[in-house]
Amino acid sequence: MNTPSRQRIGTFTGGGIAPGLNAVISGLTETLQAGGHEVIGLRDGWKGLLEKKDATDLTAFTRQQLQQLRLEGGTILGSSRTKIKKEDFSRVKEVAAQYGLTGLIAIGGDDTLGQARELFEHDVVDCNGVPKTIDNDVYGTDVTFGFETAANAAAQGVRGMRMEAQSMGRVSIVEIMGRDAGHLTLHGGTAGGADIILIPEFPIPEDQLMAVIREKFSQQGHVVIAISEAYEKAENNGKVDAFGHAKKEGAAAKLAARVQALTKLGTQEQVLGYGVRNVAPVASDALFAAQLGAYAGALSAQGAFGYIAAKRDGVITHVPLTEIRGGRMVSEELYDPDTLSMRLAPKNILIQSTSIRDRANGALVE
Ligand code: F6P
Repeated sequence: MNTPSRQRIGTFTGGGIAPGLNAVISGLTETLQAGGHEVIGLRDGWKGLLEKKDATDLTAFTRQQLQQLRLEGGTILGSSRTKIKKEDFSRVKEVAAQYGLTGLIAIGGDDTLGQARELFEHDVVDCNGVPKTIDNDVYGTDVTFGFETAANAAAQGVRGMRMEAQSMGRVSIVEIMGRDAGHLTLHGGTAGGADIILIPEFPIPEDQLMAVIREKFSQQGHVVIAISEAYEKAENNGKVDAFGHAKKEGAAAKLAARVQALTKLGTQEQVLGYGVRNVAPVASDALFAAQLGAYAGALSAQGAFGYIAAKRDGVITHVPLTEIRGGRMVSEELYDPDTLSMRLAPKNILIQSTSIRDRANGALVE
């Protein structure tokens, strides 16, 4: 714990954008400003520290500017998937010292926060973090900001393709981001009215899938399928991003070709792509993100580092950086591989008795 009376905190956004990034920046700036601390915005993720790019003086932002920022999508600080290697540690320390930083607030996914954790553990620079991803696949927090907005945008896309399917009498296939986790497709697809949800956690045998498509088509004259970008091991010509993750593409096209070949039904597909994340946060995300930012700002103001601001059991709190990791997948509690859809009620509901009414006297049991 470092305890200078006046902190000078650097913040930055890393990885793909998520609705609410600017709201986090806004929330942490407001809190730090209020405590008489300084905050500077570093450009383009970890690049800002490695290349000492021009920083933004967030301390100078007015209340009105911060309020406006809370509502906007994207990130005013820019982002990148830059990785920090062990040999970069001394450079990071040097630039942090040149900026006069007493600590950092990293806003990013498990990659960005994993690096923050390493820098903290190796005593390179004090770090806190705010977890971010539209994929919602992070352990350590109930949910990530931006997921709600992205699921909402995905649902809008699925609704549109439902209109197409109903009007044109086709099999509509909607491909949704989410990397290796199916949360976004499951939530957005279900809320948008998809008949079938296909997510990477549950590969469905092709004959079962085609049978369900035929059955639904014969019942309703159209079918709507929401498919995760990573459902099919599609060809991506070996494309990887700066962090080494394989780029996902082609799932809807691949499925459409199989449906045409095996069922002879007409198909149409739409890849929602970046459209689910390059939007302004819905009100709940704008607020949630600002609260997370404010919490991370409050921790940093006290000189408490090594934490992320997270939601646990519905409450915003701090969790050690060590508890953050990716790979949180959709479980069978939420997905039914027989109906190829979301379970709206949990598979197993545990209750003490079958009724809260005491049958003996007709009174409600306390
Ligand atoms: O992790 C967030 C995400 O939007 C994924 O859903 C998607 O697969 C990936 O980022 C796209 O990455 P990029 O912005 O590098 O194309």
